[in-house]
Amino acid sequence: TSSQFTNLPRGPYSVVNDQDIQFFKKVLQGRVTTDSNELEFHNTDWLKTVRGSSKVLLRPKTTEEVSAVVKYCSDRHLAITPQGGNTGLVGGSVPVFDEIIISTQLMNEINSLDPVSGILVCQAGCILEMLDNHVQEHGLTIPLDLGAKGSCHIGGNVATNAGGIRLLRYGSLHGSVLGLTVVLPNGEVMDCLTPLRKDNTGYDLKQLFIGSEGTLGIITGVSIVCPQKPNAVSVALLGCENFQKVLDIFVTCKSHLAEIMSAFEFMDSPSMELVKGNLSLVSPLSEFPFYVLVECSGSDGTHDEEKLMKMLQAVMNRGEALDGIVATDYAKIENIWALRENCALALLKDGYNYKYDVSLPLQHFYTLVEEMRERLKDHVIRTVAYGHVGDGNLHLNFTTSKYCAATMALIEPFLYNWVARHDGSVSAEHGLGLKKRDFIYHSKTPSAVSLMATIKKAIDPQGIMNPYKVLPQVIRGEDGI
Ligand code: FAD
Ligand code: MLT
Ligand code: ZN
Repeated sequence: TSSQFTNLPRGPYSVVNDQDIQFFKKVLQGRVTTDSNELEFHNTDWLKTVRGSSKVLLRPKTTEEVSAVVKYCSDRHLAITPQGGNTGLVGGSVPVFDEIIISTQLMNEINSLDPVSGILVCQAGCILEMLDNHVQEHGLTIPLDLGAKGSCHIGGNVATNAGGIRLLRYGSLHGSVLGLTVVLPNGEVMDCLTPLRKDNTGYDLKQLFIGSEGTLGIITGVSIVCPQKPNAVSVALLGCENFQKVLDIFVTCKSHLAEIMSAFEFMDSPSMELVKGNLSLVSPLSEFPFYVLVECSGSDGTHDEEKLMKMLQAVMNRGEALDGIVATDYAKIENIWALRENCALALLKDGYNYKYDVSLPLQHFYTLVEEMRERLKDHVIRTVAYGHVGDGNLHLNFTTSKYCAATMALIEPFLYNWVARHDGSVSAEHGLGLKKRDFIYHSKTPSAVSLMATIKKAIDPQGIMNPYKVLPQVIRGEDGI
């Protein structure tokens, strides 16, 4: 793991003692883990770049149990890290020191699904893919999809305000989450689990917890509206010459596909080489500098396929794409998506992954990649870029065989300064967690950060809920100093 954060001082929290363990065991019979082998997974992040040293993992099953243990922690001044599937990519889901891990692993019950409104109410620990399978049986789909769907929890998705590949079609969780139950840092339960589409009765408090990354409370219940599952899905994979062509294709796709376009993703050639080389995946296209993955979802397969073929013809005739294929059957579609969705996993095989997730205006999107590639040259195994072009979200990654401080010094803060200079965001969808919190001022004004700190203090005056995350180590004044 990296040594980037070793200088951080531990907060003035109590240390878990035998009496505390006895209390937890009484409330959560058989669901208190102190075994260091079992704790290893929960102490280490998915990227294997940060590691905490928690001695206790708690697995409550109900909101009441979460409330009881959080209240106890609050009274005892014990720090907590809420954890879902532990697939977060910014070091937010693991403790930094000995915080108690409260996992939603056993909170996986579905409470209700209204087949008329499509509103699903469930516990926070439901795995995203299981939820999608469940609602599909009722002709619906979850308005969120990401590569980690097999292990991430819906509560974790809400806590990170995860974006993913369906955001282009269904918008962010700020729109589709209708209600939440949250256990606040003093153990109080905030029940805003409304299954209503519209509710303008005062401040929309649930929004505060969407994207709060465990710093304001533990989400235990989620109410989310599920759109109709599309009858037909088709995918095109296109190869093209340069990034400008990717953008040209995006414009052509929007005009040809309009409301049926459900994803628009890109990969550069090092990304394709990465998944082929590290995971032995096979691409149906020959080699090109850039690839575009376009997905259409609609209610009439024949109609959608016809539109997609016309789009393909147009991009080829205009010289925007050099080659392309269309897939309409499930296995071929899955194969194409696997190329894009496995980029993150393939990067891990190189050793150490320096992962960046930025928003940039599209005209600057790929210039950053070229500058970084030039800057890092032989210092890295590879520089790869892929992402959700349709959302202006670039995933930029570098790898070395193991963590190298000199390489890191070439990347940060240069990359974040570049993003700020070009009016981008230092975190498009992964959040700030531990790794990016000190770059918050690159994307937010001092007064915005100061208001965030005020809110944090009002809800969590002791600072026990996911300490060292999201808010920067030093809060600046209004004048920016
Ligand atoms: P965790 O990793 O366990 O936690 C993430 C954060 O949320 C932590 O700060 C944690 O403290 C907090 N948290 C978790 N549960 C709760 C809760 N119940 N209450 C309060 N706080 C909580 N992200 C995207 O946005 N788009 C993508 O396309 C995408 N693709 C990914 C692909 C892969 C292969 C991987 C590994 C990750 C990807 N991610 C993506 C990262 C994304 O943030 C997570 O996958 C997901 O949203 C986190 O869910 P989780 O249950 O694993 O949460
Ligand atoms: C993705 O879109 O693949 C995810 O956000 C993960 C990543 O950025 O590597
Ligand atoms: Zn992503």
